[in-house]
This record gives sequence, C-alpha cells and structure tokens, in this order.
Amino acid sequence: VEKSLEDIFEEKIASEIRIEPKDWMPEKYRKTLVRQISQHAHSEIVGMLPEGNWITRAPSLKRKAILLAKVQDEAGHGLYLYSAAETLGTSRDQMFEDLLSGKAKYSSIFNYPTLSWADVGAIGWLVDGAAIMNQVPLCRTSYGPYARAMVRVCKEESFHQRQGFEIMMTLCNGSEEQKEMAQEAFNRWWWPTLMMFGPKDEESPNTEQSMRWKIKRFTNDELRQRFVDMMVPQAEFLGLTVPDKDLKWNEAKGGYDFGAIDWNEFWNVVKGNGPCNKDRLKARNKAQEEGAWVREAAMAYAEKAATREKK
Ligand code: ACO
Repeated sequence: VEKSLEDIFEEKIASEIRIEPKDWMPEKYRKTLVRQISQHAHSEIVGMLPEGNWITRAPSLKRKAILLAKVQDEAGHGLYLYSAAETLGTSRDQMFEDLLSGKAKYSSIFNYPTLSWADVGAIGWLVDGAAIMNQVPLCRTSYGPYARAMVRVCKEESFHQRQGFEIMMTLCNGSEEQKEMAQEAFNRWWWPTLMMFGPKDEESPNTEQSMRWKIKRFTNDELRQRFVDMMVPQAEFLGLTVPDKDLKWNEAKGGYDFGAIDWNEFWNVVKGNGPCNKDRLKARNKAQEEGAWVREAAMAYAEKAATREKK
C-alpha cells in the first residue's frame, strides 16, 4: 500500500523526525506554527521597549553596556523568528503589518511599565526565567527551523536571566532602600509573569492539538508549575517575599500550591487594554515611520548595485 502524505507526516512526528519547510504538512499545522512563531517574534521586538526605557538611565557604564547588549539580543531573536516564520510561506511585511495595526498578539508581559531600575533586574530574573522555562522544550519542537532558532535564543536567554538575577542580588545586598526597591518590583512582576505561560489548560484552545503535533512539549500549567517551583527557592535566597499568601509547599505533589491568577486582568491585557498596550504600538509605529528612509535607501542601493552587475 502506498503511504499518503499525511501518513508520512504523522510517522515523522511519531518518530521525532523534524518537519522541514519543503515537506508536506497539514494546513492547520502550518497555520498554528505561523501563529505561534510570529507572536513569539513580535514579543521579542516589543519586548525591547520596556527595558530600552532604562538604557539612558542605567546606574553605571557597565550596567548600560550589559543592558544595551541584552536589548540588541532581543532584536536578534525577533529576526531569527521572523525568518523561521517566513519559511512557512508568510511574508515579513505581512507580519509587520499585523503587529503595527494591532491585529497580531504578542506576549502580555510587555504591556507593563518599567517604573524603577529594579524592574530591569526583575524582568531579567523573572520574565527571562519564564521565557527559558517555556523555550528550552521548544528546542525539541517538531518544526526544524523553529527548533534550531530556539537553541541559540535559549543560550542568550540564560545570560539574560543571570544578569537579571545579579541585579536583584546586588539590590538585595544593598541599602534598605535598594532592598525595598527590589521587593516592590518583584511584587509587580510576579503575577504578570505567571500569566506569560498562557491560560489554564482547560481554557487553552490550542494546547491539545499542539501537543499532539509536538509543537508544544508541555502544557501551559505544567510549565507554570515548574516555574513556580524553580523560583521560590531563588526568592528565598535573595531574601524576598513571594507576593502570594496562598503559596505553600505541597508534599504530596512535590511542588508548591499557589494562589489564583487574575484571569480577567490577563484577558484584558491580551485584548489590548493593559497599562502600556497603546504606548507599545505607538512606539513600534513611530519606529516604522522613522525608519522608512533607511529602507528606501537600502532598496535604491540594492537596485543600483544590481544594474551595475549587469553591465
Ligand atoms: N500573552 C498574549 N497572548 C497569549 C498569552 C500571553 N501570555 N498566552 C496565550 N495567549 C493567547 C494565545 O496566543 C492564543 O491566542 P490565538 O489563538 O489568538 O493565537 C490564546 O491566548 C489562547 O492560548 P493558548 O491556546 O494556550 O495558545 P498557545 O497554545 O499558543 O500557547 C504560549 C501560548 C504558551 C505563549 C505558546 O504560544 C508559546 O509557547 N509560544 C512561544 C513562546 C512565546 O511566544 N514567548 C513570548 C514571550 S517570551 C519572550 O519573548 C522573552
């Protein structure tokens, strides 16, 4: 019996063979990957804004150089991810248009403001920590270009996480005021970070199919639980208090029980009504307009170079 294209695809998934751009794939597989990878790319690009806010005000030259490098890394991550999405037949222009018009989603976390220097530490420690928890398994995602992009992204993310932890440690070993600053930032970022993992499994429409196709390797709740279990001892080490009165070690499950997440807040932010959604889109649109002359010049240069070659 001759195998159908679908059988071949399913066999590859079952035996952990990566799907590559020119392979046959179900239209829904392609669509869900474009959705997830483009949202991921947009998150990296929008994610430059909250921290970018502190580049000019970093407390020392060393801190400034580190932060600048980190924010540039995020731009790089966005570019690898747009390239990975392009291999599925979507254009970068289309993805940009969807981001700039507000049609596309990007991670809820980047719609919160960075009010103090401690936020730069909290983002590196918590937000990049959550990103690693979510992205290390994506190095084994079934679509080849996405999996390969994740390998490099994760290496850079672990540097980002350490720099965040180191900022928190410095603040926590500093003056009373610095320690308070660290705690205050922790209080504001903890819950939104837990929301990064997405809705509860019962309310996550995409998880089941994405797990079956091995696009996702763990569910939203599984990753959120691992994250809490990893972070609580780190908070204790720093001498910070997790802002959750219901947090409690559960011997039977070998993990922490934690309080209820405010899902109204989450959906409100996802729908565009978070504290900074409008500012973020405004900043991206402004950058697009201000960069128009660079794109035009690059096109003109490329055309000129092409005619010169023909001669
Ligand atoms: N912020 C914004 N939207 C979200 C978030 C979030 N934190 N979590 C879930 N959503 C959206 C989903 O995109 C989906 O919307 P859509 O169907 O219109 O695309 C909807 O809520 C329902 O969620 P799920 O069914 O759980 O969606 P999915 O299976 O895609 O899981 C997840 C969401 C876990 C974020 C997944 O897409 C993923 O692992 N993405 C890759 C990692 C990533 O994007 N990280 C970005 C932040 S990290 C960083 O950039 C540093």
